[in-house]
Amino acid sequence: MPLIQLQDVSKLYGFGDATTLALDEVNLTIDKGEFVAVMGPSGCGKSTLLNLIGLLDKPSHGQYRLNDKLVSRLNSNQAAKIRRDKIGFIFQFFNLLPKLSALENVALPLTYKGVTQTKRLKIASEMLDRVGVQDREYYLPGQLSGGQLQCVAIARALVNNPQIIIADEPTGNLDSGSSRLVMELLSEIHKMGNTIIFVTHNPELTRFATRVVYMHDGSIVHDESSTVGRVANRARKVLYTLPATKEEDDLAGVSLLMKALPIKSSISDRLSPKYLTKNNIKRRSKRKALGKQAK
Ligand SMILES: Nc1ncnc2c1ncn2[C@@H]1O[C@H](COP(=O)(O)OP(=O)(O)OP(=O)(O)O)[C@@H](O)[C@H]1O
Ligand SMILES: [Mg+2]
Repeated sequence: MPLIQLQDVSKLYGFGDATTLALDEVNLTIDKGEFVAVMGPSGCGKSTLLNLIGLLDKPSHGQYRLNDKLVSRLNSNQAAKIRRDKIGFIFQFFNLLPKLSALENVALPLTYKGVTQTKRLKIASEMLDRVGVQDREYYLPGQLSGGQLQCVAIARALVNNPQIIIADEPTGNLDSGSSRLVMELLSEIHKMGNTIIFVTHNPELTRFATRVVYMHDGSIVHDESSTVGRVANRARKVLYTLPATKEEDDLAGVSLLMKALPIKSSISDRLSPKYLTKNNIKRRSKRKALGKQAK
């Protein structure tokens, strides 16, 4: 049974002249136990997609089923309860509370579940041990390195024993050594049975994924199964044609990757370099959005 099912999901931001179509009738099914990498150029809708899957936001159109239950129209309290029980979040900038210790940050989600303080701290300590930073329990976030901060954030994401981990550029702010550490940690979590969806701009990190979804301009333009340990096929094409040593190179790689994709003929014209100026994208998004609203 599929865990996540998005059917014709669109997301519009703003209204009137300032409308942006961030997701354009996306269809995506993710089974339990998949480790999915989402790639694509800046602004193509990756975070919007993850926010919808994580119930941080609602689709404007279309249906979202989680564990076969329709969740696209939940009120904010219902959505918060599902997030608390089923979903762990990891962000590029860690989002730890600066005045709480690592231990208190990790224990925080348990407060909302009514777990006693002693038990909360015990579970949090076990989680920090699991991610390898137990010796930093009493440090404040400002006293930790980027890699350590992300490990603490992963421990916090795991503390409620979530079914799904959503990680939006979890290595976006880390050096290559810490990135590998974080990805290896996510791999271990995946092996324990969790479903993981992460965004990356780095083709190298598709090595950790079992599937790679490529987005462009609010749509999924390619979706491939990937062998763990190997760079995904589409991503590899770009990786080996670039001296990808810096983050800028990775970003350039992703843009190139999108150009290398065989895009459905119906949208290939729309994605030609001439057409893809920023203003055109905005205008087209607006036109589509207005068309939809008129329906
Ligand atoms: N809250 C918002 N209000 C208005 N527009 C938004 C909002 N969030 C995102 N957008 C727009 O939606 C589109 C998709 O944004 P999104 O953040 O999902 O892209 P992304 O692929 O995650 O980009 P990046 O790689 O830079 O993180 C962009 O055009 C963005 O400007
Ligand atoms: Mg983003």
